[in-house]
Amino acid sequence: MSLSLLSIVGARPQIIKAAAISRAIRNRYPDPVREIILHTGQHYDSNMSEVFFDQLEVPKPDYNLNVGSASHGAQTALMISGIEEVLIKEWPDAVLLYGDTNSTLAGAVAASKLHIPVAHIEAGLRSFNKSMPEEINRIMCDHCSSFLFSPTVAGINNLAREGFCLEARAPYTIDNPGVFHTGDVMFDNSLFFAEMAEKVAPLEKIIGPSDKVGPCDKVFGSVGKSDGHTLTPGNYILATIHRDSNTDDSIRLNSIFRALLYIAENRGVDVVIPLHPRTSKMLKQSLETGLYKRVIDSSRIGLTSPLSFFEMISLERGAKIVITDSGGVQKEAFFFRKPSLILRPQTEWVEIVDCGSALLVDADYEKIVSGYDTLLGRELQFPSIFGDGNASEAILDILLNL
Ligand code: UD1
Repeated sequence: MSLSLLSIVGARPQIIKAAAISRAIRNRYPDPVREIILHTGQHYDSNMSEVFFDQLEVPKPDYNLNVGSASHGAQTALMISGIEEVLIKEWPDAVLLYGDTNSTLAGAVAASKLHIPVAHIEAGLRSFNKSMPEEINRIMCDHCSSFLFSPTVAGINNLAREGFCLEARAPYTIDNPGVFHTGDVMFDNSLFFAEMAEKVAPLEKIIGPSDKVGPCDKVFGSVGKSDGHTLTPGNYILATIHRDSNTDDSIRLNSIFRALLYIAENRGVDVVIPLHPRTSKMLKQSLETGLYKRVIDSSRIGLTSPLSFFEMISLERGAKIVITDSGGVQKEAFFFRKPSLILRPQTEWVEIVDCGSALLVDADYEKIVSGYDTLLGRELQFPSIFGDGNASEAILDILLNL
């Protein structure tokens, strides 16, 4: 019997997560599973979207709604209506949703109202901060799902606290959902793509001086730096900032960049910052003039356009420490046994903070600077939290068997 699974992606990290499931379908279930991919078009710049499909061998989307940017309500509404049309046409056996973006929420609403079973990959994660749009998206999606695949024990415990029954038995439905602890598909990906990244985007190619042609231009060239500065493996910080709570609040944005500049200049370390399109825009608009100029002029800070997943993996593996407000990047740092400072007041990946390899520093100048010194002075531990690298297969086994 064949099963049709419709994956909904929209934002950069979802394309990466879908790659793990696609790969498992190709390798293990090419016959019984028909995979349909719907891209909402939430991320539309080529370096935020297309490049991920190409490099990670995710099949080209069967549908693209091209919704683009808008307010949360308008963006989500456009998605719901477009997804509903496709679901009515395809009527898949289940809809796979990833993570916590507006695309996830739209998929959950559209599918559950048509009584099509929803499988949520990354279920149960909570930051306990409902001012994050992602927190609302996660909770709503979990409560519209028939299959909840949690990457961590903390996720399972959160679901139990919200009333999900961990002992539910098949047949699973929205009213009798199945909760499964499967491990993290992103851990599968990091193991799988780390080897490839070494070949496709070796660190030395990315971090060379910017007067050479090639990908290194991106690192120390894209915002006008071409002073021939070279990064040393193991002696640079990889930083990413993209959450609207940081980019759209000028006090927080200034505080983060002041701290990064201070660390770069006073700890003798370089900082590489691949910029989300919104961060690029907001830096120009919101950084105090003197700070903006110092950041741009500093030979120790390299601003770049968004990088490919392979380039990110290579940079993560070569970094001294990672500073980020991204859920995915803080976890990848952990996968590659790197400490991280999390530029948020809370995280849904509580285990990496509990074991001491990450610190929550919010957007607080003092905490960022002192956190940097604290983490680098610590004996770090990286216990096994995210499974064995076969989460995607485990998810497909469950869906096929049930
Ligand atoms: C979304 C997710 C977030 C995820 C992130 C990964 C939500 C609520 N948030 O945030 O969970 O961590 O993706 O990147 O769904 N923009 C472009 N080009 C693009 C995409 C975005 O210029 O290709 C700009 C637009 O100005 C847009 C802004 O970025 O308004 C924000 O994009 P949006 O899709 O709303 O959310 P992200 O911040 O990317």
